[in-house]
Amino acid sequence: MKDNVKPGEKWEFNDEVARCFKNMLERSIPDYQSMRALSYELGTRFVQPDTLIVDAGCSTGMAVEPFVERFKDTNDFLLIDNSPAMAAASKDRFSEYPGVEVRAGNLWENLPLRDTASLVLSVLSLQFMPTAYRQSMISAIYESLAPGGAFIFVEKIVSENMDDLMVELYYDMKRRNGYSEEQIMDKRRSLENVLSPLKPEWNVDMLRTAGFDKVDMFWRCLNFCGWIAVK
Ligand SMILES: C[S@@+](CC[C@H](N)C(=O)[O-])C[C@H]1O[C@@H](n2cnc3c(N)ncnc32)[C@H](O)[C@@H]1O
Repeated sequence: MKDNVKPGEKWEFNDEVARCFKNMLERSIPDYQSMRALSYELGTRFVQPDTLIVDAGCSTGMAVEPFVERFKDTNDFLLIDNSPAMAAASKDRFSEYPGVEVRAGNLWENLPLRDTASLVLSVLSLQFMPTAYRQSMISAIYESLAPGGAFIFVEKIVSENMDDLMVELYYDMKRRNGYSEEQIMDKRRSLENVLSPLKPEWNVDMLRTAGFDKVDMFWRCLNFCGWIAVK
C-alpha cells in the first residue's frame, strides 16, 4: 500500500503507518535495499544454533523475516515493539511460526534477556528512544548476547560537519521518490523531538562503553549509518 500518511503533530507508529510501512521505508531510506541485504548477510554469519535471535523495535517484522525463514528450525525469535499496531502486524506476519514470540512492550522492560542471544537487530529503532536511555539500552543488548554474538545497529545520524548538505540530498531523494514538499515538511515537523539522531561517533562510543570488542560501520548513505558490533 502506498504511503500517503498525513502525520500528526507528534509522529506515531499507528495502524495507518503499519499498513503502508514497507512502501514508506522503501521510499524514505536511502540505499534501502543494500541496507537490508547487508544486515541479513552480516547477521547470518553470527547466528549460533539453539540461541535467540532478537529484533528490538521490530515494527512489522521486515528485518527479521529472512532470518526466520532461514533459521526457524534451529533458533527461537523474540520480537519487541511498543506500538500495538506494529506488534500486531508482526504477530500476524509470523502467526504460523511457533518459534517466534512477539512482545508488545518497551525495550527497557524486556531487555536484557536471561536467555542468551547470538544476534540482536535494531534497525532504525533506538533513534526513537530518549537519548538518556540509549547507553543503558545498548548495554542491555550487550548483556543479552552470548560470546561471539553480534548486534546489527542501523540509525539515522547527524553528520559530523556537513549535516545540512546530507539532509538536502536526503530530501532530494524523497522528492524523487514521489513525496511532495508538504509531505516532507509535515513529516519533518512531526518527527521533531520524537526521532533524535546522534553523531556517528557518539553511537560508536556507546557500543564501546557497553563492552563490544569489535565495532565497524558496514553501511552508510547520506545521514543514515549501520554498524556491526561483536561481543
Ligand atoms: C523505524 S521503525 C523500525 C523498523 C524495523 N526495525 C524494520 O527494520 O523494518 C521504529 C520502531 O521502533 C519502535 N519503538 C520505538 N521506541 C520503542 C521502545 N521504547 N520500545 C519498543 N519499541 C520502540 C516503534 O514502535 C517502531 O515500530
